[in-house]
Amino acid sequence: MTVHFIGAGPGAPDLLTLRGRDLIAASPVCLYAGSLVPEGVLAHCPPGARIVNTAPLSLDEIIAEIAAAHADGKDVARLHSGDLSIWSAMGEQLRRLRALGIPYSVTPGVPAFSAAAAALEMELTLPGLAQTVVLTRTPGRASAMPEGEKLAAFAATGAALAIHLSIHLLDKVVAELTPHYGADCPVAIVWRASWPDQRIVHATLGTLDAAVSSEMERTALILVGRTLGAANFDESRLYAADYDRRYRPLGAEPRFPEAS
Ligand SMILES: C[S@@+](CC[C@H](N)C(=O)[O-])C[C@H]1O[C@@H](n2cnc3c(N)ncnc32)[C@H](O)[C@@H]1O
Repeated sequence: MTVHFIGAGPGAPDLLTLRGRDLIAASPVCLYAGSLVPEGVLAHCPPGARIVNTAPLSLDEIIAEIAAAHADGKDVARLHSGDLSIWSAMGEQLRRLRALGIPYSVTPGVPAFSAAAAALEMELTLPGLAQTVVLTRTPGRASAMPEGEKLAAFAATGAALAIHLSIHLLDKVVAELTPHYGADCPVAIVWRASWPDQRIVHATLGTLDAAVSSEMERTALILVGRTLGAANFDESRLYAADYDRRYRPLGAEPRFPEAS
């Protein structure tokens, strides 16, 4: 018996790995984390599977579900939205499972920030503008921010920011970032990236307030940085004709040696 932690992706049911799909299909128990896991992903559960929404459960209750499946020798598909490496609460579940001696596996998923960048059809790192993406959030009721992880501290680097769990604090985010990036710095907000009702707003830090309605729902990412919508950036040296690299060495003929 194994508990398979599976990144269920950002919303579109086909943004799921083949491995994740096959593990869901082979597991007679499925625990999924609330409304962000799409029904289309749950459709891969086998007929008769026990399917439980864990949103209203405590950690103890979730572990009790897993322990019951373990006692019955039944594999569990444990689904969290996006990828498991960020804000999934997987860490605390793995710690409990280790203590109980219950085996588990981890299968990654497409994170929301990737889906949002895809919706914007943009690369978040562009030569000369930003070579770092910071995945961050503002403090919430469930999680305080460690000292030092202030938005302003990240902003001081000029990196592109992907700010999660913070759309309800948009005013505060804009106020903290504007002194560092400037009021003309581009911002994009992507609501429910990859869902059928996905919405995108393009603005600048200076114009954002007016562009965003307060009625919009919370599942949104705030992307900030000079790479957003940029047309004026350097080309990468990677494909430059005069660039000497392992698979295209300068001076060698042909420049594209066949793989041996
Ligand atoms: C608890 S975190 C989960 C993050 C997830 N593990 C990931 O890999 O993206 C939830 C936050 O992720 C962002 N998010 C998740 N799905 C999203 C989507 N489809 N579109 C935009 N933002 C999304 C929102 O900022 C939301 O408040």
